[in-house]
Amino acid sequence: MAKTLTDLFHDQLQDAYSAETQLTKALPKMAKAAGSAELRAGFEQHLTETKNQLARLEKVCQQVGCKTGSNTCEAMEGLIEEGEEVMGLGLDTDAQDAGLIAAAQKVEHYEIALYGTLCSFAKQLGHQEAARILHETLDEEKKTDEKLTQLAERGVNSKARA
Ligand SMILES: [Fe+2]
Repeated sequence: MAKTLTDLFHDQLQDAYSAETQLTKALPKMAKAAGSAELRAGFEQHLTETKNQLARLEKVCQQVGCKTGSNTCEAMEGLIEEGEEVMGLGLDTDAQDAGLIAAAQKVEHYEIALYGTLCSFAKQLGHQEAARILHETLDEEKKTDEKLTQLAERGVNSKARA
């Protein structure tokens, strides 16, 4: 039997679960590498949010009958690898912070696309409560992206440097 939108929805949920799990491991490293105290605090805050996003995904998966843990999100693996490359370039503090922001924004843009899709699939499949929960995360990712843009546009403020 051909697979359906429900199968695709579950596949994408599992991808998101893998992506967020990977991020909970990457964000502490990014926080440690940040030169600006403000950027570090931003990464730490997003780590807390990410853990909460994982809990939301578990709830959604339970609601729609999807198992977690069977997919590895390769896109997130690649994005995190790029962030690690930035940390290995031997950049000065300001340049490294700019690179970390760029890497983090690529991650957020990927997640915005992913959660946008998940919201739309949930609605199409009649999972209104799941759609609402997924939308909370979508909004959080958008806010994080905006905050990163503000930090990048301000440039690395030497006063904010720890
Ligand atoms: Fe996230």
